Amino acid sequence: MLRVLNLNSGYGKLTVLKGVSLHVNAGEIVTIIGGNGSGKSTLLRTVAGIVKAQEGGILFGGRDISAARPEKIVAAGCSLVPEGRMIFGTMTVRENLILGAYIRLRGSRYTDIEAELDAVYRIFPRLREREAQLAGTLSGGEQQMLAIGRALMARPRLIMLDEPSMGLAPIIMKNIFEEIRKLRDAGNTVLLVEQNARAALRIADRGYVIETGQMLLEGTAEELLNNHDVQRAYLGKDYKSISD
Ligand SMILES: Nc1ncnc2c1ncn2[C@@H]1O[C@H](COP(=O)(O)OP(=O)(O)O)[C@@H](O)[C@H]1O
Ligand SMILES: [Mg+2]
Repeated sequence: MLRVLNLNSGYGKLTVLKGVSLHVNAGEIVTIIGGNGSGKSTLLRTVAGIVKAQEGGILFGGRDISAARPEKIVAAGCSLVPEGRMIFGTMTVRENLILGAYIRLRGSRYTDIEAELDAVYRIFPRLREREAQLAGTLSGGEQQMLAIGRALMARPRLIMLDEPSMGLAPIIMKNIFEEIRKLRDAGNTVLLVEQNARAALRIADRGYVIETGQMLLEGTAEELLNNHDVQRAYLGKDYKSISD
């Protein structure tokens, strides 16, 4: 579904990603783990077209999208849930969701908004209960659900999540990872970026380890969980907080 080939990307003259390659197959959760500043967000932003690729290819469904504009990439079925959620706090839950359909499709494709809303509410019943509530008054976990729900309104074929667990209490964090697993089990394809490596690898099918803009390792989630280098570098501290 997604294939990134020898990608270089960055900001101005700064090259952050150096020769990054990865692929995501339909129906998988693929996770990219790596420390702060390793280039995870830059990678997702480049796939989404928000940061321009400097070199290399990005194939989505066989089409090269490395020079496409962000709205074209969304329309092609690739949606990003950005780090920090970026929901509209003074709008209701329902309005935020509807915006997900409008902004992303720019009215170019007919969508039955009520049916889309219903589909999202079935995944996140909590959002239905709170549909008239101002988004800014939701808890952190609910805001993350809303951010994911808003991306789902565009019916993406690939949903990219940038640090969905950031800033959440451990118990809420666990819920979010459960919800992401359910998304995959319902047939969605997920590219998940996380600092919380253990929790991410527990729900993922495969993973990559990125360090200072380069892919260091790749493997099945199980291989990475059992890899001593990964254990030493990434599976130390967050283990207790997420395991029950
Ligand atoms: N808008 C920007 N302009 C310049 N440099 C940036 C920008 N955003 C990120 N960077 C730099 O790119 C590197 C990778 O950042 P980022 O992709 O956000 O890492 P991660 O998401 O893994 O924490 C860091 O050195 C960061 O300072
Ligand atoms: Mg980041």
